Amino acid sequence: MCGICACTGNLNAVKLVTEGLKILEYRGYDSAGVAYIENENLKVEKAVGEICNLEKKVENLVSFTAIGHTRWATHGGVTENNAHPHFSFSKNIAMVHNGIVENYKELKEKLEIDTWRSQTDTEVFVNLVEKENGTLLEKIISASRKVIGSFAVAILDEKGNLVLGKRESPLYVAKIKNGIMAVSDTYVLSGLTENFYTLGDNEFAEIKNDEIYFYDKNGKKIIKNSEKMQKFDKKSTIFEKTHMKSEILETKNILKTTYKNYQDGNLFSQIIFPNRPKEINLIACGTAYHSALQGAEYFKKIGIPSHAYIASEFRYGNEILNKNALYIFVSQSGETADTIACAKMLKEKKMCCLALTNTPNSYLNQICGNVLPTFAGKEIAVASTKAYSCQVFVLYLFSLYISGKFQEKEKEIENFLVKFPLVDIDKNVVDKISKFEKIFFIGRRQDYITALESSLKLKEITYINSFAIASGELKHGTLALIDEKSIVIAICTEEKTKEKLFSNLEEVKARNGSVLLVTNFETNFDNLKIPTFPPSLMPLVSIIPMQFLALHICEKLGYNPDKPKNLAKSVTVE
Ligand code: F6R
Repeated sequence: MCGICACTGNLNAVKLVTEGLKILEYRGYDSAGVAYIENENLKVEKAVGEICNLEKKVENLVSFTAIGHTRWATHGGVTENNAHPHFSFSKNIAMVHNGIVENYKELKEKLEIDTWRSQTDTEVFVNLVEKENGTLLEKIISASRKVIGSFAVAILDEKGNLVLGKRESPLYVAKIKNGIMAVSDTYVLSGLTENFYTLGDNEFAEIKNDEIYFYDKNGKKIIKNSEKMQKFDKKSTIFEKTHMKSEILETKNILKTTYKNYQDGNLFSQIIFPNRPKEINLIACGTAYHSALQGAEYFKKIGIPSHAYIASEFRYGNEILNKNALYIFVSQSGETADTIACAKMLKEKKMCCLALTNTPNSYLNQICGNVLPTFAGKEIAVASTKAYSCQVFVLYLFSLYISGKFQEKEKEIENFLVKFPLVDIDKNVVDKISKFEKIFFIGRRQDYITALESSLKLKEITYINSFAIASGELKHGTLALIDEKSIVIAICTEEKTKEKLFSNLEEVKARNGSVLLVTNFETNFDNLKIPTFPPSLMPLVSIIPMQFLALHICEKLGYNPDKPKNLAKSVTVE
């Protein structure tokens, strides 16, 4: 959510920053801007919409220092005024900010400034910085003490001083050829450097004379160790028109890579967790919550009580914690604020926490210390597809590891990976489904979870009102909505629930609703046939046509699947 890129050195900083912002665009694409030094003056350029709009405005600018931002609006609508960077009142300082200043209203009143140029909390923050005494670094350190909330900031003043600060939102800095670059995602640094530094909470950095100096919240210099850049395997990437399509098509390869990495059991044996945990609880948001639900099914199958929680609910609930339980935090980005808040809370209570993420140096990984990586590769499209499949797969493998059945299942898994089907959905079926006003997804147990994920995918990129329901629940209320304007898409991959689900579909047909059954079983209903594999692996098979369905309807309606409206890839605010 919001991307930051800052750069200084003997280089074309504005160009590098805008290129960096393009890579970070998945984090927010409402508006973008850069601040830079030109003829010893601090200047700002901004544009609403995609980065290319900003690029046109700055293509001829040359500056050795620049800070840039791509925005996902939190405070204030999508306007040029609300876009970052924000100037302080005197226009001597410019700031880009990712995060939320929770007490901005109170701080705003105290600042006693008559005219505000934006409705943002960031403008309050930069003015707070300006009012402090000392060097730019001293100012940001003391201003941050007054701020309640989260921030990753890059601040540039008219003298060309560049400082960074971080609390909860991610920020990394690295030496690159001829200069230094700070970013909110290390992916930008890929190919530019071998090593980088992660700023910790309430840490600050000053970039001076081609060096990076780090400070703690008291302004005391600290020494930080650099970390090795992860190699992003761009070779395996399938290049389609949209990231979402490429990412769905990559699923087969990344499941294979994931398996290869877990096959020898080393990754599992490195994590610390109670031997035969008494409970396994999973905490996550959105799509990751759906993989957590599948995970809970896997753990229950091996006899361990397990429950999946929505992070934003868990946090304020009265859940009874268990010292002998394992708490798994599932998150593609490892940045999701609600998930992080829960991890912090449970870590403080000394619970055994494990992060399941797709981002090697993520904040969630740092909090948990105990990590199971997914190997999905960078996921750019906002709608998660391949990362979801990878999360489900790793949770399945983990359940086998705990139950001691990993070896026993090896052949079965290898066969599955060789034959893994990327079942697409026929154009005629897409045309037919897209005509319905109401689209419901149903299923039982693991298929209900797939239904939940299918419905989320559809609504987030097509804006069609859809929801998922456990098929047995249909007649307890939702059936009232079924008529000739409705289609019910049912997922059925388990023998034990098959007959009951078929009866539910008859009930739909009796109310003039249409039906599409996604199944590996023989049936007389209109259906999409998927191949049969062992039941536990079927959620990986059945989700693919549902992801394609959302994608094709989205394309048919003329929307961009990679950048759904109102959404951003990393949700770093609660
Ligand atoms: C939907 C989607 C979101 C994320 C959710 C959690 O396609 O991607 O629902 O799953 O915002 O994000 P992570 O997994 O990064 O914690």
